[in-house]
Amino acid sequence: MTSADLDVLLPFEDVMFGTEAWSRQSYEEELADTELRDYVVAESDEGTLLGSGGLMTIAGTSQILTVGVLPPARRRGVGRVLVRALVDTARRRGAAEVLLEVRIDNDAARRLYESEGFTVLGLRRGYYENGRVDAVTMRLGLPDGH
Ligand SMILES: CC(C)(COP(=O)(O)OP(=O)(O)OC[C@H]1O[C@@H](n2cnc3c(N)ncnc32)[C@H](O)[C@@H]1OP(=O)(O)O)[C@@H](O)C(=O)NCCC(=O)NCCS
Repeated sequence: MTSADLDVLLPFEDVMFGTEAWSRQSYEEELADTELRDYVVAESDEGTLLGSGGLMTIAGTSQILTVGVLPPARRRGVGRVLVRALVDTARRRGAAEVLLEVRIDNDAARRLYESEGFTVLGLRRGYYENGRVDAVTMRLGLPDGH
């Protein structure tokens, strides 16, 4: 992902992430931190941006920070491609595991992660919306990661 991609992504940010939407400045800061963070985009064959994802890796643990597919591009496998790209990146960085938080009511994302091998570690009560919505923490072990 480059800052030019933000022009395409940001108009969809609220509809995609609601209360978890990020500002341009937040994204710019994330993109600048190339030591710890990897941001990827998925594009169509014609080069149209379809979705994006981000990963942070610290001390052998990677964390998926965001995955989003633009509404018109959903249910065509783009989310899966993004998750696989992030997991491959975690492996390349030598991580032994990938963690993530997902809203407990986000069935689409939970099914996607489960079908990619992530398992539930536990709940974080009130993680979203000022204490109102729980997060499920999920984990994927990467046995070949080191
Ligand atoms: C979650 C999200 C990234 C999925 O992207 P996508 O490109 O539509 O997902 P895919 O087409 O790769 O689907 C992969 C699997 O996810 C599950 N899935 C995706 N959308 C689903 C839905 N609406 N309902 C139920 N399961 C769904 C299915 O298991 C699907 O596999 P299948 O198509 O073989 O049944 C997308 O819905 C999105 O951007 N949502 C808003 C942002 C968000 O919630 N991000 C996750 C934050 S943790």
